[in-house]
Amino acid sequence: MQVVYHDVIIVGAGLAGLRAAVELAGKQDVAVLSKLHPLRSHSGAAQGGISAALGNAEKDSPEWHAYDTIKGSDYLADHYAVQVMCNDAPRAIIELEHLGVPFSRFNDGRIAQRPFGGHTRNFGEAPVRRTCYAADRTGHVCLHTLYEQSLRKSVSFYDEYQVLDLCRAEGFVNGVVAIELKTGRLVMFHARAVMFATGGYGKAWKTTSNAFANTGDGLGIALDNGIPLQDMEFVQFHPTGLYQLGILITEAARGEGGVLRNGKGERFMERYAPSIKDLAPRDIVSRSIYEELRDGRGAGSMKDHVLLDLTSLSREKIAEKLPEIESFAKIYLGIDPSDVPIPVLPTCHYAMGGIPTDVNGRVTLDAQGKEIPGFWAAGEVACVSVHGANRLGSNSLLDLIVFGRRAGKDINRFLDRVCLAPLPLATDSADRVRGMIESFMGRSAGETVASVRIDLQKVMMDRVSVFRDEQGLSDAVEKLAVLQERAAGIRVSDQSRSFNTELLEAIELQHMVNYSKVVALSALKRRESRGAHGRDDYPLRDDAAWLKHSLCFLEENGEVRHTEKPVDLSLASSRAEFVPKERTY
Ligand code: SIN
Repeated sequence: MQVVYHDVIIVGAGLAGLRAAVELAGKQDVAVLSKLHPLRSHSGAAQGGISAALGNAEKDSPEWHAYDTIKGSDYLADHYAVQVMCNDAPRAIIELEHLGVPFSRFNDGRIAQRPFGGHTRNFGEAPVRRTCYAADRTGHVCLHTLYEQSLRKSVSFYDEYQVLDLCRAEGFVNGVVAIELKTGRLVMFHARAVMFATGGYGKAWKTTSNAFANTGDGLGIALDNGIPLQDMEFVQFHPTGLYQLGILITEAARGEGGVLRNGKGERFMERYAPSIKDLAPRDIVSRSIYEELRDGRGAGSMKDHVLLDLTSLSREKIAEKLPEIESFAKIYLGIDPSDVPIPVLPTCHYAMGGIPTDVNGRVTLDAQGKEIPGFWAAGEVACVSVHGANRLGSNSLLDLIVFGRRAGKDINRFLDRVCLAPLPLATDSADRVRGMIESFMGRSAGETVASVRIDLQKVMMDRVSVFRDEQGLSDAVEKLAVLQERAAGIRVSDQSRSFNTELLEAIELQHMVNYSKVVALSALKRRESRGAHGRDDYPLRDDAAWLKHSLCFLEENGEVRHTEKPVDLSLASSRAEFVPKERTY
């Protein structure tokens, strides 16, 4: 098997991976592996913006940003990590501007800012304009800029290489095994440091804003290697996915003045969040939409969706600030949002949980913060944790940029002081990968990937989505155990080597089933409602029993082991604003 050496291997070419690469380039020999072309990474789909208390539109402060983030998280976010992110945000935006991101501007030339859900001034007083943007293509322009900067700094790219496993030696992570999609050949990448920036995992749900690639490969590989996943029960449904398609319609549409209406034409968010209405955090808006549907106030002949009404916005404003969603509405639904409201429904959008890390992106293995040397993670695959039980819109691009850079800096320090020479490469992971591929391709009988995946997506959508209860979650856990066995018995009929997508999907399916088991089991254990985790049978938040993170391991027999980890509440000891309390908006 071919072995390739680089000092640092970054897996994933979205914003977290590229920001780390830019930090490392010129100091270390750094390579980025991606199963896609980098510019197709899912960060490019983030539309509405990136938050930072720049105060360009009105008075603002990082402390108010931290307050909103912690309150929005339903008090599960770690305080120090949130402080790090919000304090660094203004610097990070100016840095992006200097790297070449073409932000939208106010007339005086400063970076424009718009309101977004849950972002307020003066500790919850009223919505604040905190989200910087480039029309509704913010992730897209950030991705292009960082890719250009990576090329300028001679980062090595391995496009269309899918990572299949980690390599480990003497307790350190020191490489990965990957398959080159074009040839089907396996390659071992040997390194002194490995970083995962592999993104999210929304493809386990039937309706999602996530791209086809978002199959949680990094999470699955972590689980296979005995690394836990944190807070996996918290999965965000974005309130406005295009009806029946799940394609994202940015929250900026409401930030710019759009409102949600039920089938009776009522602006129903006035009832659920009287103070900030349509700009309440996503967990609250998504739940409110489903309450309207449950009470028979949906729109359309089936009363099964609500409407996003932009008709009060001028045609010019929509064209300037929301061109992407205007074209989505026209292309996919054949409607002009200036004339008629857009039919929408919540869509699975974002994972708050992931591989646990410290604020420098170092992967941690237990509640005490024990590290696994040589291994970093950042972005949606990671759980720092700054989003707790519910992420505020426009905090995710910020998370990618801030913690991608911090991981890059920390890897530099590690390589300069700790790991001066590469540790010898062990071949056991390559043997494991080869064995797995041979078993999928060598079978004469077995189910197809699609049949198992469809059932998985149905279970997750029906039982592990916005509303949950004991019976549905227990049923999901049982069904997932069966799906795990079915997935292991898949037969790949395509025997070709070049771009064998059937094989790749079979491998992705193993990850999907494994992390879905963790999601369902942590959701079953957590007998309370908090943020995106809404239990019909335990409708209240229970801080006495559940103000803690969950931390789950996948045992060798395929069972999930559930443990817990304390939440960092350090700000609450000195500031009353940060003490957990009932969330009202
Ligand atoms: C949006 O524009 O609503 C999506 C961006 C995000 O999830 O923060």
